[in-house]
Amino acid sequence: MMRFSIKSGFPILLAMLLSLITAACSSQESSSDTSEQSVEASDEKLRSNPDDIYVGFAIDTLREERWYRDKEAFEGAVEELGGQVKTLAANSDQDVQIQQAQLLINEGVDVLVVVPTDADASSEIVDIAHEAGVQVISYDRLIRGADVDYYLSFDNEKVGELQAQEIVDQVDEGEFAYVGGAESDNNATLFREGAMNVLEPYIDSGDIDLVYDTYTTGWDPGVARDELSSFIDSNDVNLDAVVAANDGTAGGAIEALGDQAGEVPVSGQDASLEGVRRVIEGTQTMTVYKSMDLIAQRAAEMAMDVGAGEEISTETTIDNGQGEIPTTLLEPITVTEDNVEETIIEEGHLTESEISDED
Ligand code: GAL
Repeated sequence: MMRFSIKSGFPILLAMLLSLITAACSSQESSSDTSEQSVEASDEKLRSNPDDIYVGFAIDTLREERWYRDKEAFEGAVEELGGQVKTLAANSDQDVQIQQAQLLINEGVDVLVVVPTDADASSEIVDIAHEAGVQVISYDRLIRGADVDYYLSFDNEKVGELQAQEIVDQVDEGEFAYVGGAESDNNATLFREGAMNVLEPYIDSGDIDLVYDTYTTGWDPGVARDELSSFIDSNDVNLDAVVAANDGTAGGAIEALGDQAGEVPVSGQDASLEGVRRVIEGTQTMTVYKSMDLIAQRAAEMAMDVGAGEEISTETTIDNGQGEIPTTLLEPITVTEDNVEETIIEEGHLTESEISDED
């Protein structure tokens, strides 16, 4: 891993200039690739008003639509609360994410909010942040094996339960496939656990035969499609249902189903535009809506309080392998074609015309 040298032989004038240039750029400046950026940075707070709380947002990826929405909502909420924020996205590369976290710390962030790429390897971010006296909030995904200060997410086991429940409501026997997320993401494990809570009684009674059960590297829809497709071809199976962990993997699974798409129930998650369109057209049975505005707003409030040195109270704690982490979990919502209107449309997550526009 590349290390950063803070101010070592860095002329003070140049440091001030860098500080001014960076502050002049919007505090919302985002980058999906800092690997080519200079990793030297002043440890002065790079912001127009040094009294403002400065929040660093280190995000795994902006590939899925949901993370882009999280970023926009989070940045907007921090600014609304009077803070400044910089987001850096790591293109799903844990080493890059650690470098980006270090960069934000060097810039003098008061608090670091992290959507980790890898649940375990990202513990290094917590260590370097704490060495610099910066607290860390784990956003949506849990960082394992480190003294994370706070964790804010949805009830992820419940997400898995909602997915599997909606599928068994459609069909409760036959050959099932479970298409999971990235095993390196703690959420993917929880989604699977939740799904299995629902499926296990059917598996035990012999009604459901779980013929395929896999995680998907990097949550990549192409990987989900190719792996399921080659399983279907080489085993000549006719699947009766697919529990897919999110809309991306669902899209891959639906492609793999080919002519059978629309006949085989498939779950999803994230209420992405493509996912919701498939729910309406009938190739995807459901998605799970987790309000990004809500989590982003709550995270921004937490970040501002933590950045100001306040201790905050949470509803519960979760053991991340290192200790009990103060945790707040929000409620996920099942979305089918029957309640698209009163959930995501009413909440302004997507508009009717966006959903019906075929472009
Ligand atoms: C999970 C997240 C999901 C989904 C997935 C892929 O951690 O909870 O909403 O987006 O990552 O990025």
